[in-house]
Amino acid sequence: MFNPLSYFGKDIGVDLGTANILVYVKGRGIVINEPSISAINNKTNQILAVGEEAKKMLGRTPMHISVIRPLVKGVISDFEVAQEILRHMLRKISPSSSFLNFQKVIIGIPSNLTEVERKSAEDVVIAAGGNKAYLVEEPVAAALGANLPIEEATSNMIVDIGGGTTEIAIISMGGVVVSKSLKIAGDELTSDIVKFVKDEFKLIIGETTAEEIKINIGSVVPGGEKIEMSARGRDVSSGLPREIIIRGSHVRAALSKSVKSIVDSVREIIETAPPELVGDMLKHGIYLSGGGALLRGLDQLIEKETAVSTKIVEEPLTCVVRGIGSIIENYSKLKYILDNPLRPKEIIL
Ligand SMILES: Nc1ncnc2c1ncn2[C@@H]1O[C@H](COP(=O)(O)OP(=O)(O)OP(=O)(O)O)[C@@H](O)[C@H]1O
Ligand SMILES: [Mg+2]
Repeated sequence: MFNPLSYFGKDIGVDLGTANILVYVKGRGIVINEPSISAINNKTNQILAVGEEAKKMLGRTPMHISVIRPLVKGVISDFEVAQEILRHMLRKISPSSSFLNFQKVIIGIPSNLTEVERKSAEDVVIAAGGNKAYLVEEPVAAALGANLPIEEATSNMIVDIGGGTTEIAIISMGGVVVSKSLKIAGDELTSDIVKFVKDEFKLIIGETTAEEIKINIGSVVPGGEKIEMSARGRDVSSGLPREIIIRGSHVRAALSKSVKSIVDSVREIIETAPPELVGDMLKHGIYLSGGGALLRGLDQLIEKETAVSTKIVEEPLTCVVRGIGSIIENYSKLKYILDNPLRPKEIIL
């Protein structure tokens, strides 16, 4: 039985992503997995809905209501809303709505953040009810979540394709050795589909419809051309509703430029990495995590373009928070991998 009282004073892990927020509670596992979105009344500043409920309102709200994503490209852009979303989620799992109390809170952050952005992630956690905030770089958490042997003196490559950022990192001995953070990921792919449908079909579709198209029939390699689905939107010139049939080949064309940028960045990391790391990579392969890893054929395309075997981790959408969870469960053994400003700096491309 769900007993919120048992969470009092517990350690928790948070993956506050551009698209989704996940919370892990020590000894319990993942207890929250919802979109990081909030609906706000502009006139009163009152929060009307958070998470799943707010996502349903996307593109359907009257003028006085805004649906806000407080993270842009992996970075907190609206501190107040980010804090409210986290607070709301923690309230769901906390004994009293007026008093939130968690011991250690470990939050995942993209690599390459500025000091101000790191501080902002810490502050959000404290403001939302954590006693102490610790940061961990998301690629390290993803590698842990994928059960890669990150503590050994061998390197592993992880590519985490989220909503806002694609984090490409080579990890060795618990730290990031080389990394690149690309601001092209799942949300950009969704926007590519909105733009393509407008240009090719002269139809304006919403973000939710475009995301459904991407998830249902999106693919980056030829094959499955017969896959198609219908989509409804508003005709550009008449302004009236219209339905189209969109095919897998259309979506592939729509996504090609952004997908190429992702693949090129993976290649760039491989081409500039020190030779020892490249040798390890050939041995272990590349691991894809994050929701974008589920785009059909992306693993095959990366494998073809880099000549390195490429695998999708199990349950890519929960990989980062499961990694943070393993730090919480094995804190004394793994605390050294928490983001430590004293550690020698990685090579950032
Ligand atoms: N089956 C799928 N095929 C393609 N894309 C998918 C699929 N499922 C989810 N996505 C995309 O994955 C993205 C969300 O992934 P994820 O939850 O890992 O991001 P995030 O951690 O919130 O973002 P970030 O790490 O960039 O801050 C969304 O853009 C979503 O559309
Ligand atoms: Mg993420």
